[in-house]
Amino acid sequence: MGYDAKFRIWRGDTEGGGLEDYSVQANDGEVVLDIIHRLQATQAPDLAVRWNCKAGKCGSCSAEVNGRPKLLCMTRMSSFTEDEVITVTPMRTFPVIRDLVTDVSFNYQKAREIPAFAPPPDLGPGEYRMKQVDVQRSQEFRKCIECFLCQNTCHVVRDHEENKEAFAGPRYLMRIAELDMHPLDTAERRDTAQNEHGLGFCNITKCCSDVCPEDIKITDNALIPMKERVVDRKYDPLVWLGNKLFRR
Ligand code: SF4
Ligand code: F3S
Ligand code: FES
Repeated sequence: MGYDAKFRIWRGDTEGGGLEDYSVQANDGEVVLDIIHRLQATQAPDLAVRWNCKAGKCGSCSAEVNGRPKLLCMTRMSSFTEDEVITVTPMRTFPVIRDLVTDVSFNYQKAREIPAFAPPPDLGPGEYRMKQVDVQRSQEFRKCIECFLCQNTCHVVRDHEENKEAFAGPRYLMRIAELDMHPLDTAERRDTAQNEHGLGFCNITKCCSDVCPEDIKITDNALIPMKERVVDRKYDPLVWLGNKLFRR
């Protein structure tokens, strides 16, 4: 049965803005994105929202619902009471373009800074061989839909614009970890993770993992193992001795 849902939505652009109240029809089985679409169709045709699949797979409709990072298409109206005011705001860590749409180019920049997979030069296409266990390890990370909710949530950059240059964020530190775990990757990943991509900023709060709609264990399966590999290299006496000898 339908009811009038109370919504409070951030409207504005690069110049500034504020919250506006709306009352919109909601029906059984709907998600927050359905209500935003009905609002566009009936009251606010100029309301900007980014979306594409409406199935939790494209990663476009990321925003904050009652202050919590969410995919609008996967947030069921049934998770709120009928008299609750539902506040929808754009992701806070990225600059607003308009209304619920943010400029997420920070993430594309960070992706570009990571050197690509580097297989041994003497291996031709079709000659790659990996054990199933190695395939499985990285398969979890490959589920990422690039919604950037983890990047939006991590406290290292959420209210600290000044850290953005030095910190790749959980999604891209996970990418580096994936490459470092790849048995055929020959590039140096550990020192650069620490020194160029800001792995040391992460203090394992796990907020990134908590908001991941794909339920990827970013912290436990990517960031902590990567930290352990960096530490191993630093404190392994043989590596230490090797560094000393070869640096002379
Ligand atoms: Fe989104 Fe999860 Fe990928 Fe982060 S790791 S971008 S939260 S799907
Ligand atoms: Fe940030 Fe996730 Fe580490 S939230 S501090 S990257 S565990
Ligand atoms: Fe594609 Fe929500 S519209 S994830």
